[in-house]
Amino acid sequence: MVHIIVIGAKRITKHTMENQNTLENCTPMPKKSVLEVNLKNHIIQHDLAMCIGVTTQTLGKQLKDLGIITIKHGRSALIHCQDARKILEARGFDFFQQIIAIQMLKGGSGKTSSGFNLAIRAHQYGFRVLVIDLDMQGNMTSTFGIEGSKQAALVSYIRGEKSFSDLIIPIEPGLDLLPSNYENSTIDIEVFSKRIDYSTLLKKPINEIKKNYDLILMDCNPSLSTLNVAAALASNIVLVPINPDTYSMEGLIKTTSEIARISDGRADAPALKLFYTLFDKRESTSREFLVEYASTFREQLQESAIHRSADVKTGTSTNKSVFEVPRAFVAQNDFDALTREILGLTKKFGDHHD
Ligand SMILES: Nc1ncnc2c1ncn2[C@@H]1O[C@H](COP(=O)(O)OP(=O)(O)OP(=O)(O)O)[C@@H](O)[C@H]1O
Ligand SMILES: [Mg+2]
Repeated sequence: MVHIIVIGAKRITKHTMENQNTLENCTPMPKKSVLEVNLKNHIIQHDLAMCIGVTTQTLGKQLKDLGIITIKHGRSALIHCQDARKILEARGFDFFQQIIAIQMLKGGSGKTSSGFNLAIRAHQYGFRVLVIDLDMQGNMTSTFGIEGSKQAALVSYIRGEKSFSDLIIPIEPGLDLLPSNYENSTIDIEVFSKRIDYSTLLKKPINEIKKNYDLILMDCNPSLSTLNVAAALASNIVLVPINPDTYSMEGLIKTTSEIARISDGRADAPALKLFYTLFDKRESTSREFLVEYASTFREQLQESAIHRSADVKTGTSTNKSVFEVPRAFVAQNDFDALTREILGLTKKFGDHHD
């Protein structure tokens, strides 16, 4: 129990102290001449080297041996996501499939912002990613720069008007989105009136398309809707963002008891993982809640926590991940660590930092 608290606190302290000197190496510094580089599908060589636990020079040698060309970007070298994948595979990483539903009953807890950054980071590491927006607000959809109202929504699949795969929009190679809009607000009624089996509502169509992806990430709405139950039952992991406040603790208790209820007796029940976000080390309540969560949810709480950072909002409001926001040092470190932890990169290569 103490172990988790100490590790969690250590990571947070470490991130805070590291900020000043580490990310000069791993943050793209936009220059006029290189603004055209798509930062969504490139990873900084230094970051990939850190992930696999080698020096930038050692990785540079491997890139050369494999004939991989990097792009100069400010003081950094960028590697295309497909080349990052080649490196990870060459080092024995298995891109095993993960289907994740991000859920939390409490609204505004960071589901969409965190899911977006997680998806982009996974894409940069070379994962083939599908993001499914299951929130009728369509926040994830608009964060990708897609106007949800102009797209067919999931409800048209439920009505039998469209196939599931017809709804998927390619954002760019290796990154797809199934968008959402307000039309999806009738899904629960449709499911009920048509007596559709919600346990296979998403599981069945996802099973049909999942071979195309390493990561399927569902951004859920803040409710205990039938759609969210369907998402949980279609996933391997239910990922819950938790915040340093009482409402979050209440939302977490309701969310986890709902997951436990629907998982009851199911061999394929999703694993529950929690991560701490909107952490502010200056607030004593933030620190106190972290200790409380860490002791209560010892097994489920991820070691990586996300600090409160204006760069998260700066990014999402301009359709960018924090990895595309210049000098977003804290947020980049946080989301990189969380992505590596959740997707098994830390387990494979260890937890390396500058
Ligand atoms: N780490 C962070 N630092 C600062 N602001 C954040 C962070 N994460 C999220 N936010 C902000 O918090 C607000 C809510 O975030 P977000 O929309 O991701 O939550 P949500 O759980 O998806 O909300 P909803 O329940 O309505 O779907 C947004 O304004 C977002 O920019
Ligand atoms: Mg949201």
